[in-house]
Amino acid sequence: MKKSTHDKAWRLLDASVVRLQGTLVGTLAARDTIVQELNYDQVFTRDFAVSAYAYLLNGQPEIVAGFLLQMVRLQRTERQFDCFKPGEGLMPASFKVVSDADGERLVADFGEHAIARVPPVDSGLWWLMILRAYVQTTGDRALAERDDVQAAIRMLLDLCLNARFDMFPTMLVPDGSFMIDRRMGVYGYPIDVQAQFFSALQAAEMLLVNAEENTRYIEAARRRQEHLAYHIRTYYWLDLEQINRMYRYAVEEYGETAVNQFNIYPETIPHWLTDWLPETGGYFAGNLGPARMDFRYFALGNLMAVLNGLATEGQSAALVHLLRERRDDLIGEVPLKLSFPALEGQDWALLTGMDPKNRPWSYHNGGNWPVLLWLLAGTCVRTGAMDLLESVLDSVESRLVRDDWPEYYDGRRGRLIGQQARKWQTWSIAGYLVARQLAEDPGCLERLGFGGRAKSAACGLGSNPDPCG
Ligand code: GLC
Repeated sequence: MKKSTHDKAWRLLDASVVRLQGTLVGTLAARDTIVQELNYDQVFTRDFAVSAYAYLLNGQPEIVAGFLLQMVRLQRTERQFDCFKPGEGLMPASFKVVSDADGERLVADFGEHAIARVPPVDSGLWWLMILRAYVQTTGDRALAERDDVQAAIRMLLDLCLNARFDMFPTMLVPDGSFMIDRRMGVYGYPIDVQAQFFSALQAAEMLLVNAEENTRYIEAARRRQEHLAYHIRTYYWLDLEQINRMYRYAVEEYGETAVNQFNIYPETIPHWLTDWLPETGGYFAGNLGPARMDFRYFALGNLMAVLNGLATEGQSAALVHLLRERRDDLIGEVPLKLSFPALEGQDWALLTGMDPKNRPWSYHNGGNWPVLLWLLAGTCVRTGAMDLLESVLDSVESRLVRDDWPEYYDGRRGRLIGQQARKWQTWSIAGYLVARQLAEDPGCLERLGFGGRAKSAACGLGSNPDPCG
């Protein structure tokens, strides 16, 4: 990286820092002075995660500690029967500092103010990941071992692990409940949430102290990881071999011996996919539920699955192969494609509710997001594809600087600055800085908490052997 770019990026990141009564507590989502603010002047939990990684790798953990403890204070702690209040354990999507006669205080948004009132399922998951990275990089276990922090972890696990109506290891969520926070047909069991859930479970297992009140939680987090790993590796994985199997699936199978467990009709395999998949590449499907497989590729879930070991080594290598073979589609001119392919025509109308911001090849619907660079970097580090990482970073550096760090790009190959994109978007800056750090020192990945390999339990929904283990 050019030193001038590095220094400029750091100055911009520092300029986005938010203080509460003198304590550093987060970074603003964007500092665009031209486009109207909406809620981009707030600290978003998921956006801050990337800033947190940048600060931790740069040896500046104070802001991360400040954020982590504020989130504990903001987490809801009352059991609720009131449907208009956030449920016990929930952490906010975002918060802002307001000052009045009584001084400064934080006002949090749990989705009740968000456009379309989308809930932040991912906030607690990111908080756990940030906490783990904080402990790994600083060695300061004392912060994680505080009573209030341990209680916060248990409450998050209650929220995520309590038995509900369905009986899958994956987490059931409403549409738009994570980075894709608009209607996009990503309700149900989206891969992005499942991969983050997996990381959060790993983090919780590592962070809970050995105490009697934690035993049940540690055991539950460990077992859920195993079931989740088996389920995702077996049922979400798509490569030519699996597509061939699905193409000849029997349907309407009842009972324990069913092979086609979700009753996926072969007719739903899209034509674009059979032509597009290279011989040896593969990826995890976007979503899987009753009679429904979403065949779209989603970057966040797929890349995070490589980082945290949810994907097997074979699957990770196949994903990198796919990225190389389909570089124009999945990486593009300004990396990276968030989802592929875009929903168009009737699909777009029905699944987005005719959302003009998410029209084909824009924003969440096939737009390109620089923030994802850090996940690509982690994937390359994990699989040894450093040549790919270098070539991507070299090609994008001057572009991001010239364009003032946009939030996203539009077009099939991501050549246009997103029509409604904010500039000086903090996580675009932080994502780039973290990616560069990882490229320069691959050891950083483990310090951020992404190191282990997942164990897979041999007990999924049915008797299928794990095809990818
Ligand atoms: C948009 C994105 C969301 C992000 C927020 C702040 O709403 O969809 O993922 O957290 O902007 O940058």
